[in-house]
Amino acid sequence: MLNQSFILRRMTPQDIDKVMQIEQKCFTLPWSRESYLGELKNSFAIYLVCDFEGEIAGYGGIWVVFEEAHITNVAVDPDFQQSGMGTALMQELEQAARNKKANRILLEVRPSNEAALTMYGKLDYFPSGLRRGYYSDNGEDAIIMTKLLF
Ligand SMILES: CC(C)(COP(=O)(O)OP(=O)(O)OC[C@H]1O[C@@H](n2cnc3c(N)ncnc32)[C@H](O)[C@@H]1OP(=O)(O)O)[C@@H](O)C(=O)NCCC(=O)NCCS
Repeated sequence: MLNQSFILRRMTPQDIDKVMQIEQKCFTLPWSRESYLGELKNSFAIYLVCDFEGEIAGYGGIWVVFEEAHITNVAVDPDFQQSGMGTALMQELEQAARNKKANRILLEVRPSNEAALTMYGKLDYFPSGLRRGYYSDNGEDAIIMTKLLF
């Protein structure tokens, strides 16, 4: 268990190399470098990194469109998982959504992703729908999970 010596801050283009490494380790459908660079210029998007003593250990992002926020990605380097970083990133993204006057936040998750499902449940996300065959690598459905923001 790490102590809480990580900080959360906005992602910059200089972070993308490390983000790409974590992306490749964590996802079977990783986003490209160009996607992330584009997201950093997207005025609807907010991307954060978890910086542990100068090393990028995780990251996450949201889009906020009017009253609805959408988590686009959240990932923690396997070397740093189960130390509270995923929860901290989610909570900071939720606060960013509140600051933009969003009243709800939603995300998609694979039914097979036990770690993420457990984390989202602990953070009070509830299943609110299904997208059939959403994931193009294996045709897995996506569970839509929602949380109301107060
Ligand atoms: C999902 C993910 C971001 C969680 O990050 P994390 O930093 O490990 O999360 P936390 O340490 O804050 O854990 C929060 C809770 O999730 C649960 N959890 C985390 N990892 C778990 C695992 N491997 N198995 C079961 N439960 C797990 C625990 O209940 C934990 O609570 P606890 O610390 O009180 O036990 C991380 O596993 C990850 O990057 N996975 C790969 C990418 C991914 O699937 N992203 C989500 C896409 S929808």
